[in-house]
Amino acid sequence: MKFGLRAATTGDVPHLPGIERSAAKAFLSLPDLAWIADDAVQSEERHRALIENRTAWVATDEGGSPIGFLNGEVFEGCFHILEVAVRLDAQGQGIGRALIDLAGQFAAANELAGLTLTTFRDVPWNEPLYRRLGFRIVENSDLTPKLARILEDEAGTGLPAERRCAMKLTGAR
Ligand SMILES: CC(C)(COP(=O)(O)OP(=O)(O)OC[C@H]1O[C@@H](n2cnc3c(N)ncnc32)[C@H](O)[C@@H]1OP(=O)(O)O)[C@@H](O)C(=O)NCCC(=O)NCCS
Repeated sequence: MKFGLRAATTGDVPHLPGIERSAAKAFLSLPDLAWIADDAVQSEERHRALIENRTAWVATDEGGSPIGFLNGEVFEGCFHILEVAVRLDAQGQGIGRALIDLAGQFAAANELAGLTLTTFRDVPWNEPLYRRLGFRIVENSDLTPKLARILEDEAGTGLPAERRCAMKLTGAR
């Protein structure tokens, strides 16, 4: 599939929660995490704020409509990926990798130390994918205050803490 990449605009906002809900259907293949398919998604308000902050990008289909997105925020000297999601029917075609590469380019252009995120340790399209892209797990003893807080907050929303981890990619392009 041919896809494009560009900065997200406020016109994309109505599409983005639906993309995240569709992306999350990937979890239906994992019985113990299937509930994530119906979990809360980022609000339109949150999307608008990240777009205004210029830290949000979309992958688009040939007609220019969004089929995936990545957004995040800068803290502790890195670009932290808050969410990367690709519509279920568009997954497995290199869009997720391309969006993460774009985030790496943003980090490099802004002289940041790299990329961070939190994810599942044992979901095939989470930690193993990021590891293949060069991310490494940040051990609990090395967690920065904000990464530790994000993991705590996630546990508070019901995500199983023992299966979650923070990861970091340094030297991103
Ligand atoms: C994670 C996600 C954004 C990746 O997007 P994508 O467009 O499918 O990614 P790509 O096509 O670039 O594939 C990247 C890798 O993931 C692997 N992958 C994708 N879907 C997979 C699946 N269902 N099972 C196993 N591996 C999978 C691909 O094999 C590929 O591996 P490789 O390129 O290293 O060989 C997408 O799977 C998604 O939206 N998932 C649901 C939401 C989610 O988990 N977000 C991440 C939160 S931390």
